[in-house]
Amino acid sequence: MSIKPSLKTISKIPTYVPGGSKSDSKKTIKLSSNENALGTSPKVKQAFAKSKHELHRYPDATCVELREELGKYYNLPMEQIICSNGSDELIRMIAKVFASSGDEVLSSQYGFLAYEIAALAAGAKSVIAKEKNFTTNIDNLLTKVTKNTKIIFLANPNNPTGTSIPFYEIKRLHKNISKDTILVLDSAYSEFIDDKDYKDGLEFAKKHKNIVILKTFSKIFGLGGVRVGWGFGSKEVIDFLYKIRDVFPVSLPAQRAAIAALNDKSFTQKSKQHTIKWVKKLNEFFDYLGFDTTASKGNFVTITTTKKTKFTIDDFFEYLKTNGIVARPLKGYKMNNSLRISIGTNSEMKKLIAVAKKFCSGKA
Ligand SMILES: Cc1ncc(COP(=O)(O)O)c(C=O)c1O
Repeated sequence: MSIKPSLKTISKIPTYVPGGSKSDSKKTIKLSSNENALGTSPKVKQAFAKSKHELHRYPDATCVELREELGKYYNLPMEQIICSNGSDELIRMIAKVFASSGDEVLSSQYGFLAYEIAALAAGAKSVIAKEKNFTTNIDNLLTKVTKNTKIIFLANPNNPTGTSIPFYEIKRLHKNISKDTILVLDSAYSEFIDDKDYKDGLEFAKKHKNIVILKTFSKIFGLGGVRVGWGFGSKEVIDFLYKIRDVFPVSLPAQRAAIAALNDKSFTQKSKQHTIKWVKKLNEFFDYLGFDTTASKGNFVTITTTKKTKFTIDDFFEYLKTNGIVARPLKGYKMNNSLRISIGTNSEMKKLIAVAKKFCSGKA
């Protein structure tokens, strides 16, 4: 007897390797998973702790209260919101519902790896459009659109590059694709960005049936460990997603924590200011050391070695690790000379700068 998966192409699916959490030091500074630098709001921790009295209860299956709060917060009709066990789960659900064998799922060269994995897991073909300067290129995406393109996944700002594109470019893409193609705008990092040309797409999605916006509580709301994501789209699309949704994907403590997180605006404001401040400082610092940097709008910086740096990114990564700092290598994205470093606390950032300076001075 030999055990065979029904999906013949399963061995072609890349394995997603999450950010590491161990270094060579007893006290690790984890800068590998774009978690919130300030941790989790004390009010959210309180709400989470309070839920211990109800742990024997099943959670509300469709997250009514959470969707009501999301509806108020983002000015959305709650019937068009679906909550999930992290937005990763929604990425897979969308691929499963809208693509299968013979279909194409389009994403950008350095787009979030979960898109390609979800496409292949659904049995569809993953099609990739080249980027320019680590930035999504709408013309290149449009040249890859065919009659078989069922879904386009786009993160804006993107992980792992941090780059973003103006909303008029997203509109141009939407205008030039079929109304039957689902355009997924992953706005996981939208709360960190202030650019006047930027939009998370929620208002636009109210007017178009083929757009889904993804959001997460893992970033600015500081709840990566709790797993809550959500999506907004037309009633038709959201209803399809409900058909294959787990019955209880968001645990009771997770729902309580997410509601409390929405209600602590001073925490999210502080997280945003802290992040923007350190992205700027780190990019200036790494530019000064001779790295190439991107105009990151996420809670991380992405750096690439150049002729000026005179060492490999692997050497730099290992040196950081020896000194207790874990960053994220990007070989899985074929960004072989790049490293992604998440924003941490003030003291973690100061340590990073000191260690990086020491490494580079030894190489000069
Ligand atoms: C662009 C993007 N989308 C989605 C996710 C997944 O987030 P979640 O923790 O909600 O599954 C991430 C996580 O890093 C991300 O960077």
